[in-house]
Amino acid sequence: MANRGGFSSKLGFIMAAAGSAVGLGNIWGFPYEVGQGGGAAFVVIYLIFCFILCYPVMVTEIAIGRKTQKNPVGAFNDLGYKKWNIVGKMGILSGVLILSFYNVIAGWAFGYILEMAAGNFNIAEQFNTYVLDIFKVGSYGLLFMATTAFVVSKGISGGIERAAKLLMPTLIIMILSLVIYSFTLENSMAGLRFYLVPDFSELTGSVIYNAMGQAFFSLSLGMGALITYGSYVGRNDNIITSAAFITLADVGIALIAGLMIFPLIGYMTAGAMEDVGRGPALIFVTLPQIFGSIGGVLGSIVGTVFFTLLCFAALTSTVSLLEVPVAYVVDELGVRRKRAVWIVAIGIFIVGIPSLLGNGYSDFFTSFITYVGAEKATDFLSFMNHIANDTLLPLGGCLIVFFAAHIWKKHNLDEELSHGSPSYKGSFVQKYLNFAVSYLAPLVLGILFVFTVLSTFFGIKII
Ligand code: TRP
Repeated sequence: MANRGGFSSKLGFIMAAAGSAVGLGNIWGFPYEVGQGGGAAFVVIYLIFCFILCYPVMVTEIAIGRKTQKNPVGAFNDLGYKKWNIVGKMGILSGVLILSFYNVIAGWAFGYILEMAAGNFNIAEQFNTYVLDIFKVGSYGLLFMATTAFVVSKGISGGIERAAKLLMPTLIIMILSLVIYSFTLENSMAGLRFYLVPDFSELTGSVIYNAMGQAFFSLSLGMGALITYGSYVGRNDNIITSAAFITLADVGIALIAGLMIFPLIGYMTAGAMEDVGRGPALIFVTLPQIFGSIGGVLGSIVGTVFFTLLCFAALTSTVSLLEVPVAYVVDELGVRRKRAVWIVAIGIFIVGIPSLLGNGYSDFFTSFITYVGAEKATDFLSFMNHIANDTLLPLGGCLIVFFAAHIWKKHNLDEELSHGSPSYKGSFVQKYLNFAVSYLAPLVLGILFVFTVLSTFFGIKII
């Protein structure tokens, strides 16, 4: 127990957890969801979810982790509710599945650094063939996983915290420079208007629950990643304010990523925001086209900086995803950290191979499964994404808060939260958290889980 390690300070924890939160979800997912979800109206709903609903879930996860000093499975055992450790097991499974495909996308992004540095903007049109070169993109993926494993193998303060303290500030500097640059382009204001002026007529049911899912994924909730990070937090650190900082940092970076990307799109489309493919292809197709239209050395620099920052963001997230199953193997099976890290990383890379092959290379994995009522088959990577992000995470989140409020009991949660936060008891925050953790969050997450499963897998749209 003594040598489990821990974060060296409250700031170290905040940086690492913010690093976990800030990832592909913010820089790739958020702008494209905004684009599909009608712009600023999506942003407003997203913000509401982050602060009202997700913040209480985050606080709960961290508190359970710090109380028990364990991985998500060990945490439930330690509190004396062995049956509930199924929630932890589900979390570990989600972590494995998410990392398996997340790493494939991170590998593509890594390859794009090289393409941009070489000035190969045509890669935009060749994205579909780029992902077919599975030995090339596969080795990028392997390299990404190895880097992740290297960081995790160095432990909590010497690896995860150190990497976050180095990468996060660099990321912020890079992203702000790109924001300033994109503001100088022609028609950037048309992009900003789309992004920042809400048109609530665009608001539909699916926009609302996409915003919810996005908030949840972006804040790294629902699988015990923050139970695990919380288990390395000092007894006297303030969980209430730490979680607030982490939420603000994550939301802040997503918003700033929008400030960088929408002016670029305004420039590219000469202000006609409707004209651009804004789906998942945004990052790998549209942006390189934009960098190409800037052209020359400048285009190359802007492109290289962008994909480098994307990889930095992804790395601090893959690190947190790997840490969860590693902590489980270390705590519960008594394997040494270094050994556990490499075994788990290789295992997850192998689980990710179908996601690598399912983008046109293998017909079997490309048309892997056809959901009830769907016209087209779903590829393996998207299938993993649906299982983990849309299903396991909201279910996990729902069960974690339900457990904390009604099984472990509110007063125990309050007790843990008041360590390091002397003014917590009796405060408005306490009253709100009690309400949110007991009723609001389990209810909303439970409903979201049912709706998403019905709509994704069975084609039944309730709202
Ligand atoms: N939040 C990260 C992103 O936005 C992804 C991530 C890392 C994650 N760890 C997680 C998502 C744990 C859910 C659970 O890219």
